[in-house]
This record gives sequence, C-alpha cells and structure tokens, in this order.
Amino acid sequence: MSNVFVSTHPLIRHKVTLLRKQDTEHRKFRDLVREITILLAYEATQDLALEPMTVQTPLAEAQGYQLRERIGLVPILRAGLGMVNGIWELMPQAQVWHIGLYRDERTLKPVEYYNKLPVSPTVQVVLILDPMLATGGSAVATVDILKRWGAGRIKFLGIIGAPEGVEALSSAHPDVAIHLAALDEHLTPEPQKPGDPPAGFIVPGLGDAGDRQFGTG
Ligand code: PRP
Repeated sequence: MSNVFVSTHPLIRHKVTLLRKQDTEHRKFRDLVREITILLAYEATQDLALEPMTVQTPLAEAQGYQLRERIGLVPILRAGLGMVNGIWELMPQAQVWHIGLYRDERTLKPVEYYNKLPVSPTVQVVLILDPMLATGGSAVATVDILKRWGAGRIKFLGIIGAPEGVEALSSAHPDVAIHLAALDEHLTPEPQKPGDPPAGFIVPGLGDAGDRQFGTG
C-alpha cells in the first residue's frame, strides 16, 4: 500500500522495543511515547509546504522559509493525548482538537463521546494521533468526522498497527497517509477459554496504551 509508512529508523526500533516490555513502568512508558512521536512526526512532516521568509541576522538579510499551512493535532482520547507534547516541541504553534472515542469491548466498534470541533475548519493539515491502530474502527471514525468538518490533508500517526487496522483505514480512506513506528502480526481472536486475552488486541503489541500511560491498567 503506497500510503503506508512503517519507520525503519534505528532509534524508533530501539524505543518501540522498550515500550513493548511489560515491566516498563508508567513514567518511562510516557517518555517513550513522547520520544517516538517526535521521531515519527519528523518523518511524517517531510512534505509540509513552505513559503519564503526573510529574516535579519546580526550580519545581513537571509532568505529562509516558514510553514505555509496551519497544522492541527487531533489526539484520540485517551491514549492519543500522550503524543501531543512531543509534536508541540517541534511545532509549538500547532492547534489541538480532541476527539473522544472508546472502543466498545463487546462489539469493538468505536463510540464517540467528545467532539468540540468548531463549525469550520481552522487548519489545513491534520495529524491524527493514536498509539494503537487495531481494528482501525477508531481511526476510520475519526477521519470520517474530520472529513465532514472539512479538513484538507489528513495523516494518521500511530505507534503500533495491526494489518487489519491498516487495511481498514487505507480501504476506507486511501488518501490518508498512515505513519507507524511498527507493523505487528495480527489481532487476538475471540477468547476460547478462561485466561485467554480479550479479542481485538494487537499481537505482540504492547497491551493497552491508555492504561499503560495513565497508570490505570
Ligand atoms: C484504544 C486505542 C485506540 C483504539 C484502537 O483505545 O487507543 O483508540 O483502542 O482500536 P481500534 O483500532 O480497534 O478502534 P481504547 O478504546 O482502549 O480507549 P482509551 O484510549 O481511552 O484507553
């Protein structure tokens, strides 16, 4: 799929491995999410448009550039929140618009519970932030919301994706670039016996990114 980018950057690979470890504690987990997001955003913003800008150095005028488009970050609550601060370090002017979705544990379908987008779009480029792309339901629903809003160019930034989620998002929205730090094997099936993990978790994955960031797991 031409619009799917899985990072091969050594720093990202190293940090994702630490993120997966089950004994990585909450504080370290949050740090890693922020650091991986900075690296991913660096890769995902290579095609942002520029316009010329002149500045005065202590010696002379210099021709330079500034970003031409306004950037919006859309973290999907809760887990996407941990990805905002890293990008703000790179692009402090980025607007942040939250979308609240949770995945119904039984149906695995996304349920919307928060959306305060203004009536008209205020940005030209939107980066959707969510560490996990599992079935893809949350990401597809978020792109649906943003397209109805009138968002121009949309990219999805995730840390770990499952093939099922990549397929769902890229079939529903082939124009949305998907940037991932890792592409994993599959999703867990329906549990067959007591002790089996719940359905719809990414394998090998990292568990529940929301719980691991917020200490609620
Ligand atoms: C997780 C994750 C994604 C979603 C991915 O959120 O952060 O938003 O599930 O699953 P999908 O691709 O199958 O839709 P969750 O519903 O656990 O909510 P939380 O972030 O509040 O913990």
